[in-house]
Amino acid sequence: MKYVPTFLERGARVIDLSSDFRFKKAADYEGVYGLRHTASQLLDQTVSGITEFFRKEIASAHLVANAGCYVIASVLGIIPLLKTDLVDPDALIHICAINGTTGAGSSLKKDLHHAYAFGSMLPYNLNGHRHRLEIEQRLNELSGKNPTVDLTTIHGNFARGIIIIATIPLSKSMIQKMGRQDLCAIYNHFYKNGKKKEHFIQINDAPSTAKESNAKEYDIYPSLARVVGSNFCHIGFDYEKERNVVKVVSVIDNLVKGAAGSAIQNMNVMLGIKEQEGLLTYGL
Ligand SMILES: NC(=O)c1ccc[n+]([C@@H]2O[C@H](COP(=O)([O-])OP(=O)(O)OC[C@H]3O[C@@H](n4cnc5c(N)ncnc54)[C@H](OP(=O)(O)O)[C@@H]3O)[C@@H](O)[C@H]2O)c1
Repeated sequence: MKYVPTFLERGARVIDLSSDFRFKKAADYEGVYGLRHTASQLLDQTVSGITEFFRKEIASAHLVANAGCYVIASVLGIIPLLKTDLVDPDALIHICAINGTTGAGSSLKKDLHHAYAFGSMLPYNLNGHRHRLEIEQRLNELSGKNPTVDLTTIHGNFARGIIIIATIPLSKSMIQKMGRQDLCAIYNHFYKNGKKKEHFIQINDAPSTAKESNAKEYDIYPSLARVVGSNFCHIGFDYEKERNVVKVVSVIDNLVKGAAGSAIQNMNVMLGIKEQEGLLTYGL
């Protein structure tokens, strides 16, 4: 927010990776980040940088605010279901999110040293994570519903990648009527984007062939390793009929789809060039 007004005055178009322009109201930013907003006059014209949902607005935007990494993984994973009338309108959505240690940035912290973090897991900010309100606001804006989110954040013992698991309660009328195949149909249809499939979204729709409950079919859910180094988001799910909840798994690389990759994708849209330019191969 210190530099962006100058860049815009000089005619540059800006894609901001920080949190400064992610909220529509300065008061929300000040409440969550504890800092005074010094460029709040720009909030109205800022476009959210989740490309799959704001592509048209991004194309002509001068200021794009890329969403937080947990926000991108959560919103891409939850919105297709939340936009249906299957979800309990008073839903409390639990999101358990595990991020690599790069999610903490590169400044030195003892707890993140290899000797401490390797072979361990590090829960943090359980008193309220900064991305929680941003997730709620994007879900509300994109679905018209008002879900409450409970976000639990953990650093895993790996450098890159985010896996979120969202537990979404369905309305009572759905009890036991849902199945994994129905979810596959909802998500595949949603990300077709007219006739063209969203390039960076992959739905893990492998059918379950389990003959018994509790069979360990690991491959029907997304794997973190498959997206690390890429701009892809892989999404999978299942329905737990005893609890009438859908569990959505969404995985991204926090530094690519969660940050720089999304920024490149947005830049491509802003420049009117092929959206996948520079993002077609895995970077690692
Ligand atoms: N890490 C993630 O997963 C992630 C995901 C999405 C968005 N983001 C956002 O992306 C931004 C960067 O996060 P990060 O994790 O990459 O943090 P980081 O590892 O701390 O990197 C910040 C970088 O910015 C440079 N820098 C700081 N002040 C500068 C200045 N005044 N002029 C020029 N360079 C300056 C630093 O340079 P020095 O090293 O020389 O100090 C450093 O290279 C943050 O706003 C963060 O919220 C991060």
